[in-house]
Amino acid sequence: MSADRSTAAVAARRDERTPAATLEFDGVSKRYPGASGPALDNVSFTVPAGEVCVLVGPSGCGKTTAMRLVNRMIDLSDGDIRLDGDSVISRDPTTLRREIGYVIQQIGLFPHFTIADNIATVPKLLGWDKKRIQARVAELLEVVSLPPEMAKRYPRQLSGGQQQRVGVARALAADPPLMLMDEPFGAIDPITRDRLQDEFLRLQREIRKTIVFVTHDIDEAIKMGDKIAIMREGGHLVQFDSPAEILTRPADEFVARFVGIDRALKRLTLRRLHDLEMAPVPAAQVGDDAGPVYERVAASPLDELIVVDGEGKPLGRVGADRLQAESRVPDSRLDPVGVTAPETWTLRDGLAMVMTDGNRPLLVLDEAGRAAGVVTVEQLSGALRPNGSPAPTVPERGDPEVSA
Ligand SMILES: Nc1ncnc2c1ncn2[C@@H]1O[C@H](COP(=O)(O)OP(=O)(O)OP(=O)(O)O)[C@@H](O)[C@H]1O
Ligand SMILES: [Mg+2]
Repeated sequence: MSADRSTAAVAARRDERTPAATLEFDGVSKRYPGASGPALDNVSFTVPAGEVCVLVGPSGCGKTTAMRLVNRMIDLSDGDIRLDGDSVISRDPTTLRREIGYVIQQIGLFPHFTIADNIATVPKLLGWDKKRIQARVAELLEVVSLPPEMAKRYPRQLSGGQQQRVGVARALAADPPLMLMDEPFGAIDPITRDRLQDEFLRLQREIRKTIVFVTHDIDEAIKMGDKIAIMREGGHLVQFDSPAEILTRPADEFVARFVGIDRALKRLTLRRLHDLEMAPVPAAQVGDDAGPVYERVAASPLDELIVVDGEGKPLGRVGADRLQAESRVPDSRLDPVGVTAPETWTLRDGLAMVMTDGNRPLLVLDEAGRAAGVVTVEQLSGALRPNGSPAPTVPERGDPEVSA
């Protein structure tokens, strides 16, 4: 019902959306007047249309400068920046700025404007009619998960996290082909931040904008970026790569230190349990013939039967020893289902869970809560290996058939 409607709405929006733009930095330098060295020094990289590029690096390394050069709030000293092949220098700065969504470092909502008026800033400048603006504001509030009644409030009547979302909604308002987001989740507590990051990623899967996203936080960069640009003092770009590459092959000592000695563990956040080749769950329903079931249990790393209902959702466990003494899968005195993990968990979360559960194999559930597979500590720790070699597959013991 409402899910169908919103899916249809999303599909409709996708069709009428402005296509994302490719962003190209070509030998870009910026020297501020009177400064001893450059704020940005011969920086080149390309962000393909529809990808998120995260600029990360210590304070003062030139991240905000790079953003401001793109929409020409400041001028280049050297090199060029191109959007879909066209130099920003050839563009009228005012028009250019309206085509680029910009979430500035301190949110920067207009305090005397309502939330609706804040979001409507660019559409108003573009001369949209009132109805279209109203509809767009309502749509964007929904997109950033804010209730419609917030439209009439003022920024000071919202929490910091809610204001950040309004900042994102405002930047999205005129459907820009490029978004610049300067530490959009900077001033937010870790838990809310994590949620906003997840929402952002969900939103990006839908809108597929080209996004330049600035952060100090390497973990945020790894989570959010298709590409990461690591910068250091003096405006140097030291590495431009995918998160996996940066974690596996840091370009130099600086990057290695920046990503941290725990980079192998961080790499585990890039893959999810469902990316692993999981062993089948030794599952059966109450009353099933215990003999063949026992064989599957014996062949499984789990060493326990998972008793499931008609849909495949776990009801409890039966140890191999007890099962061997039964003729049918029992319906009473089941051991509790105990530790399980959703298949969308990262390998890092999975490893943490296994390690707190005595290194026992992990029962993984799909989104409907059905038993989906078994993951072993060897698989998880194997994924830590730097050469990116696949984790060892499940020991080949017996019949790999899945029940249920
Ligand atoms: N308008 C300006 N005039 C002169 N120097 C400036 C100006 N703006 C920035 N700088 C200098 O340029 C360098 C880069 O600044 P920038 O704001 O781009 O850093 P940043 O990476 O965004 O830092 P932060 O993480 O603290 O936001 C800094 O040394 C800063 O002092
Ligand atoms: Mg900055």
